[in-house]
Amino acid sequence: MEFQQEYQTGLSLIEKELSGCFIETGCSERLWEAMRYSLLAGGKRIRPILTLKFCQAVCGEMEPALDYACAVEMLHTYSLIHDDMPCMDNDDLRRGKPTCHRKYGEWLALLAGDALQTAAFERIAGSRRTSAEANGRACGVLAGAAGAGGMCAGQYLDMVDEGRTRNLEQLIQVHTLKTSALLKAACLLGLTASSKEPSAEQWAAAERYAQELGLAFQIRDDMLDVQSTTEELGKPVGSDTDNGKVTFATIYSLEECARLVEEHTRLAEESVAGAFEDGEFLCLLAKSLAFRKK
Ligand code: IPE
Ligand code: IPE
Ligand code: MG
Ligand code: MG
Ligand code: MG
Repeated sequence: MEFQQEYQTGLSLIEKELSGCFIETGCSERLWEAMRYSLLAGGKRIRPILTLKFCQAVCGEMEPALDYACAVEMLHTYSLIHDDMPCMDNDDLRRGKPTCHRKYGEWLALLAGDALQTAAFERIAGSRRTSAEANGRACGVLAGAAGAGGMCAGQYLDMVDEGRTRNLEQLIQVHTLKTSALLKAACLLGLTASSKEPSAEQWAAAERYAQELGLAFQIRDDMLDVQSTTEELGKPVGSDTDNGKVTFATIYSLEECARLVEEHTRLAEESVAGAFEDGEFLCLLAKSLAFRKK
């Protein structure tokens, strides 16, 4: 199957599943509406695709990982809602639409983010596609990646260092925590859902792949903030500059950034080549993200 077609197959599974979320109505109807607004606003769905494809790379099927895939996208969407709020990056546009707080106001956006985060864990804990034991481990994987030892730590450093200079080592630490951590969880959730036990080599390969992919992904994100357009990106360009963030695009030229993206992408590809019987999609995914336009 062609790469694009294979991506589309995973994407369709995810979109169908997500579109069925939070449709109940009740006293908190507008809260559910705000959650759906952000969750269903589009987005590349990279993290849930990784979850499905790592599962498939081990056991040959994606379906066991479908609840975990939805969960990681819910958690990611929560992180974007909060990241856009006035107290953080103060952005007005996300996925080509007004940000959640611009549309629903701050307190409701805050709650929509909170509720998406808890819904992620509820979705994993209640999955019938996987065993209770796997669900318990998966909750631990996601919590570890999202919390104060992972993404929240990265977001903390990103905020606390606003306007300060940073060296390469510190920048790699921020990117590893704020972006690679959740990508790593996405990959490991796929392995956790697999109906066949992954080998130790496969666990290690997935971790290395996600680490390198995350660095490439966030460096590319930093580049797009200065070289893309708001229309193409679906989020405001120049946000990092306006907020006085030190990113790869401020300490390196765009050419140097592009070289770093290529380098980390190559390392990501090398990590999975050979570890999985069919690792080709994962390599092509890394390659395609290195040149992404949004
Ligand atoms: C944006 O993530 C936040 C970063 C870690 C750079 P994505 O670029 O995956 O955003 P969506 O999900 O496609 O909107
Ligand atoms: C955010 O990084 C990463 C998260 C954990 C949400 P950015 O602040 O660079 O993400 P964008 O550019 O707003 O998508
Ligand atoms: Mg941010
Ligand atoms: Mg931001
Ligand atoms: Mg950014």
